[in-house]
Amino acid sequence: MSIEELVKVENLRKYFPFKKRIFSKKVRYIKAVDGVSLSIKKGETLALVGETGSGKTTTGRTILRLYEPTGGKIYFGGQDITKMPKKKFQKIRMQMQMIYQDPYSSLNPRMSILNIIAEPLRELMVKNIEDRVLELLESVGLRREHMYKYPDEISGGQQQRVAIARALAVNPKFIVLDEPTSALDVSVQAQILNLLENLQKEKNFTYLFISHDLSVVRYISHRVAIMYLGKIMEIGMVEQIFEKSQHPYTRILLESIPVPDPKDRKRKKLRLPGEIPSPLNPPSGCPFHTRCPYAKDICSQKEPGYVEVESGHLVKCHFAEMIE
Ligand SMILES: Nc1ncnc2c1ncn2[C@@H]1O[C@H](COP(=O)(O)OP(=O)(O)OP(=O)(O)O)[C@@H](O)[C@H]1O
Ligand SMILES: [Mg+2]
Repeated sequence: MSIEELVKVENLRKYFPFKKRIFSKKVRYIKAVDGVSLSIKKGETLALVGETGSGKTTTGRTILRLYEPTGGKIYFGGQDITKMPKKKFQKIRMQMQMIYQDPYSSLNPRMSILNIIAEPLRELMVKNIEDRVLELLESVGLRREHMYKYPDEISGGQQQRVAIARALAVNPKFIVLDEPTSALDVSVQAQILNLLENLQKEKNFTYLFISHDLSVVRYISHRVAIMYLGKIMEIGMVEQIFEKSQHPYTRILLESIPVPDPKDRKRKKLRLPGEIPSPLNPPSGCPFHTRCPYAKDICSQKEPGYVEVESGHLVKCHFAEMIE
């Protein structure tokens, strides 16, 4: 593993048990994440894109061990953290934070902004807590007057700024951003994206940026991974994905980028025509073959491996071709 890589996962799997009836003995599994391998360099933003239910959130949560992985390996700063005992992991876990889509539900409504941000600081036995809270508020574009307010007294954009300030309190290195702007008004989205970008430049943060909005992804990320039914179908640099994509699924996603329409942009889920197969019973062969306009016999019979069509650009398709 290169020292440049902060996060690396190999063949990561997360299966959720599923019982059709409470008393049924037969347990089946929802393969939410099914063999994901990726790495993220220090200071880099990797976007994770895919339709609703493709396993994006589960991937983010499993990397942070908010879900224990079913299989595979997770490395952080070169250390294997997959099965690291809780106590030892705690210190590393501090360096990893997650920001959610809906800021209001991630903030305790009964606590003042001061106490929300002070909570992790108290655990760290930080002195002069108020000064540090003010510093954190200012770093996300808020002011002293916000300290004494409650979550429902500030706007959605300000709530997301508070959630970011709280995540920054523990000096993280890696942040999973799970659709951090999808619940916000369009005018506010750009401000939060700018804030995240500036913070990254200042502090060299590493981001896993989960999103269904490809126009936002193009703007904010360095590399992009396209996910379908728990697997990565294509991964590469932003230009490789947007200009030279080879996977039919990526191409369909790109064609479906909505024309900027303020009402439409607030959609929270990405849906394309055609049924997404159930992750309880995924198709044989290539998971995308049931919806792929180019599918041939082999696609339902054999699961394709990854073809590295260009340096760092991997495509999981039988018909991917190397770029000369
Ligand atoms: N805690 C859970 N228990 C059981 N099944 C789950 C759980 N979390 C997610 N799943 C299932 O795993 C699959 C992947 O879900 P996940 O939330 O990771 O998708 P997503 O790509 O984040 O979707 P969205 O765009 O809607 O947020 C789905 O079929 C979902 O129903
Ligand atoms: Mg999700």
